Amino acid sequence: MIYTKIKGTGSYVPKRFLTNDDLAQIVDTNDEWIRTRTGIEKRHIVTDEYTIDLAEQAALEALESSHVAKEDIDLVIVATVTPDHYFPGIAQLLQKRLGLKTVTAFDINAACSGFLYALQIADKMIKSGAFHNALIVGAETLTRLTDWSDRNTCVLFGDAAGAMVIGTSDYDSIRTVITGSDGDDNSYLICDNVDLKDPYTNEKSTQDHIHMNGREVFKFATRIMPQMVRDLLEMNKMSIDDLDYIVAHQANLRIIDKAARDLNFSMDKMYVNINEYGNTSAASVPLAIDEAIRKGHLKRGDQFVTVAFGGGFTWGGALITY
Ligand code: ACO
Repeated sequence: MIYTKIKGTGSYVPKRFLTNDDLAQIVDTNDEWIRTRTGIEKRHIVTDEYTIDLAEQAALEALESSHVAKEDIDLVIVATVTPDHYFPGIAQLLQKRLGLKTVTAFDINAACSGFLYALQIADKMIKSGAFHNALIVGAETLTRLTDWSDRNTCVLFGDAAGAMVIGTSDYDSIRTVITGSDGDDNSYLICDNVDLKDPYTNEKSTQDHIHMNGREVFKFATRIMPQMVRDLLEMNKMSIDDLDYIVAHQANLRIIDKAARDLNFSMDKMYVNINEYGNTSAASVPLAIDEAIRKGHLKRGDQFVTVAFGGGFTWGGALITY
């Protein structure tokens, strides 16, 4: 039986940030509304950096903390809905920048659950025996898709990257990963690709922005997050009291709070950094895990669950003995 574990983590956010008061200069909103409805106080945004730049910084930090040599990384997966190109993927650009040699490298899109999907894939590819050490990254520049005149969405998102090196282990650390999806044919959470083109007129392509039905997404999120935690606990014959921490996707503090109350789990043990960064999509979970480790909240031997949900709809969770 091959086991896997987290060998190192890293994260990066751009320097520039917008406070709620800054946003109130741009759209009809205010600090009080944003803080009480979402928990967000500021969000970091890119001005002269791209998704690959954020991914590179987070990956360098994860590699350094993992003590895994570059030549021993044989798999790179990047979860993103904001790649810099249709092709090549961020994973290939990252391979080049980091000077990684023989690797299998690819991007995936599962919206805000993307990092959990990357973890699922990398974990199973290593457990199959075909790969040994994977660099997995969630990197987003979601503010490129933000409509800065839509107060329903523009207050929510920020830019960031988080990374993790996982590899073979002598104990069962990444114990269970679950993922799921349910086609959102109501377009509750959607950002369109460029439209089809008439070759005779060849009009210029225009980029769509994020559209969201907040209430429907809220309902879905508050149902799926506690359900995933319960499923993971049941699969491992554990109870909620066995968990030291829950690191949830940072989409809305009220969603995290409701999940904690449903699970009868202390909010003190739910990791929260949404106030600092807003919703950073696929970067949210690895950024939060990296911070929780670096700040000493998550320690070796701790049992924690991480869960995410996102557009698609998609969801994913993992139970890990760190
Ligand atoms: N500032 C001030 N007022 C606002 C703002 C704003 N930024 N945004 C909306 N409002 C107004 C609305 O217009 C509405 O006014 P009205 O009553 O006059 O019509 C009022 O506030 C209430 O709006 P609601 O949408 O009911 O507010 P709600 O309490 O549901 O909060 C929110 C909205 C924060 C979006 C919430 O529904 C939510 O967090 N949903 C989940 C979103 C989410 O998790 N998205 C990420 C998914 S992950 C991914 O894949 C990207």
